[in-house]
Order: sequence, then C-alpha cells, then structure tokens
Amino acid sequence: MIIIKNPEELKKMRKACYIVATILEELKSYIKQDMTTQQIDLFIENLTIKMGGIPAFRGYRGYPASACISINNQVVHGIPSEKVFIRDGDIVSVDVGVLCDGFYGDAAYTYPIGKITEEAERLLKITQEALYKGIEQAKPGKRIGDISHAVQKHVETHGFSVVRAFVGHGIGRSLHEEPQIPNFGKEGVGPKLKKGMTLAIEPMVNAGTYEVMVLADGWTAVTKDGSLSAHFEHTIAITDNEPQILTKL
Ligand code: MF3
Ligand code: CO
Repeated sequence: MIIIKNPEELKKMRKACYIVATILEELKSYIKQDMTTQQIDLFIENLTIKMGGIPAFRGYRGYPASACISINNQVVHGIPSEKVFIRDGDIVSVDVGVLCDGFYGDAAYTYPIGKITEEAERLLKITQEALYKGIEQAKPGKRIGDISHAVQKHVETHGFSVVRAFVGHGIGRSLHEEPQIPNFGKEGVGPKLKKGMTLAIEPMVNAGTYEVMVLADGWTAVTKDGSLSAHFEHTIAITDNEPQILTKL
C-alpha cells in the first residue's frame, strides 16, 4: 500500500528533509582531502542532533554509522571508518537519513574532491541530471515506470549504466515504504502517482557495467568492474502540479 500524506504530515516531513538538506549543503565546504570518512560521519551525526533530528541509518538492520560514505568505485552503503582517508581526485557519495517528529528524510550527493578526471566530472553531471529527469515525471497521473524510464534513458544515452540491485522507495513514517522505484524500466507501467505521495528517488550510476557486489563487511557495494559510481537522491512530494523537492534548501 502506498501511504498518502496529509498537509500536517507533509509539514513534519519537510522538517526532517530540511535537516538532511542543510547537512548535504554544509558538506560542500566541509569535506576536504586528508580527512577520514569517520570524521565526516561525526560531523553529520552532530549536526543532525543539533538540529533536533536523529540519524536514521544507525542501527537500521544493524548499520553501524550515521551516514553512508562511498568513495570512487563504491556504489552505496560505504561504512565510515577512521582508516579511510579522502584524497584529491576522489568522488565521495554521502547518503544522509534523518528522523524527526516521527518522519524520515533521505537524500544523497556525490562530492568532487579537488581536481577530478573529466570522466568523473561527466558521471556526476549525468547522474544528477538523471535524478532531475526522474523527479520531473513525479506528477499525478504518471506511473513509477515513467520515473524509472526517464532516469535510465538519460543515463544510457550518455554511455553510463544504472545500478539494478538497489532502488528508490516511498518514505514517510518509515525509511522505506512502498513503492519501490527502480532506476530502469518502461514508461506507463507500475503504480499510479497521486498527490500526497512522498518518494525518495535515487539513481546510482556506474561508468562501466551496472553489476555490483557487496564486500565482506556485508554493506559496502562496489562496482564489479572497478569503475566509478555516483549517487544522487532527493525526497520529493507529489502535488497537484510540479513535484516539491523536500530535501532542497
Ligand atoms: N538511502 C539509502 C536507502 O534509502 C540508505 C539506507 S542505508 C542504511 O536505502 F544504512 F540505512 F541501510
Ligand atoms: Co534512500
């Protein structure tokens, strides 16, 4: 069942999402080379709590940190560590989830560190554009497949591939609600979109093959061929007309 949110519930979602958006914005100037991913995670945890939220990922199915931080060939769910250092030329995907007043917000951004390659530059651009192509489809009367197809088409037209093993999702009183939102699929299929639905749309895009594998830590997903991967995510609300991006300042 896809849960429709009323205006009061949407107001609470906006608060959780505002915290997520603020954190991702602050990280643009905070993340620097020679820092550890644990240091970034601590920054995220502290800011979340300072703003009145609770880190949503810690403890979720036993996840051991506040955020997911995935570098270069890591796709998603990288576990922050005191042993992992950010280096010049890295692309760093940070996924942040916050619980506030009983509702969740979830978003991700991939940060370029110092001078990155032209390919990496293009990967970030296309992945972010794909997210916005997907969001554009989030209107009453459209279907989930319209979002999926728009994302896939933009990515593959530019020679990259969309990850199949992980999907976007409904979000609200739970971090993951129905429906699932794949980043690949056909137009005109899947659940119909309605005003009051809140969705986390999150393309994960690889420079090489779409295949991924999970490391021995049980979390970190990496590209099978070692190619770069990027991840952008927003939580959005469907309205009568244009979708509202809740995780944007
Ligand atoms: N944005 C991811 C998702 O919605 C974050 C979940 S990671 C976990 O699935 F650590 F919480 F599992
Ligand atoms: Co998500």
